[in-house]
Amino acid sequence: MTSVAWVKGKVRYIDQTRLPAEEVYVETSDYRRLGEAIRRLEIRGAPAIGVAAAFGVMLAFDEEGADATATREQRLEAAIAFLGRTRPTAVNLFRSLERMRSAFQRLKLTDPDLIRRALLEEALGVQREDAEACDRIGEYGATLIPPNSTLLTHCNTGALATAGEGTAQNIITTAARQGKVSRVYADETRPLLQGARLTTWELMGRGIDVVLITDSTAGVLMKQRKIDAVLVGADRIAANGDTANKIGTYALAVLAAHHGIPFYVAAPCSTIDHGTASGSDIPVEERDPREVTHIAGVPVAPPGVHVYAPAFDITPHNLITTIVTDAGILRPPYEAAIAKLNAGVHATRGGST
Ligand code: MRU
Repeated sequence: MTSVAWVKGKVRYIDQTRLPAEEVYVETSDYRRLGEAIRRLEIRGAPAIGVAAAFGVMLAFDEEGADATATREQRLEAAIAFLGRTRPTAVNLFRSLERMRSAFQRLKLTDPDLIRRALLEEALGVQREDAEACDRIGEYGATLIPPNSTLLTHCNTGALATAGEGTAQNIITTAARQGKVSRVYADETRPLLQGARLTTWELMGRGIDVVLITDSTAGVLMKQRKIDAVLVGADRIAANGDTANKIGTYALAVLAAHHGIPFYVAAPCSTIDHGTASGSDIPVEERDPREVTHIAGVPVAPPGVHVYAPAFDITPHNLITTIVTDAGILRPPYEAAIAKLNAGVHATRGGST
């Protein structure tokens, strides 16, 4: 299963809002439709959003018609601005758009075929690099999992959320293949139920013993000593290690610290934002109140009730045991470890920086 792909000049993706009831693939050649798909979470998960955005710029480059009079550069910039307004928190989106912009700028005065080839190569590069990053994260992260582990995860960080086998979830599946995972608890992840709908679907498909729980059940499981480690992904990691991830992650990290349980964040280096000093500088998306007042279109709250619906929260770095990246396992102090990464000093396999 490929979450997002470039197929004969179109973008093809699995509509994650329809899962697990239906496995529907959508094809589009319109970057505006693709942007809408990102906004609506048909395509979701920081790395997958980054890949989709890169392909979106390709679609804009190929587009002719309504704005045929606009110059190629203006059309591309308009698409980049549009795609950049879809979701504010996952830094992978902005990193991909910037990569596409740079690829264009390098060649913009040359032949259109040459530019097109370079843009496509860049977009496919974003996709390929993410798939490779997932493999390395799985390998490094699995070294942290002792035999017979029961793990807890939040949201969805699997193949659906990336261009490869996932981040935190790939650690789980890799460790499971090594025979080290006895059970996985998946938080349902209110309000949009990525855990209930997507994580259970993926893990069951891989033959892993997964138990679905409501988000508020995590604490009692930890108290009963039933959780050996918590694994989550990230949408943006600040230069000091503070991590934005799906709402509810912070509460899990506090619970894990209270119970002395390791709390692992897993993400590709493309999710690290060296330009953002700390978590308080990360923009946190707020979603439509209907996502809280309604479940599957059915109202579950009185009409007109006030709602607060942040899509993400920030986990302070001091609550994170290690950050597993494709460049190795980062350990505190994160500010130094992340600065080292930025300077191009990569951790050795399974080692720490
Ligand atoms: O709102 P979503 O579903 O896009 O949020 C996704 C998450 O928070 C994931 O944990 C994160 O993007 C990492 S996915 C490998």
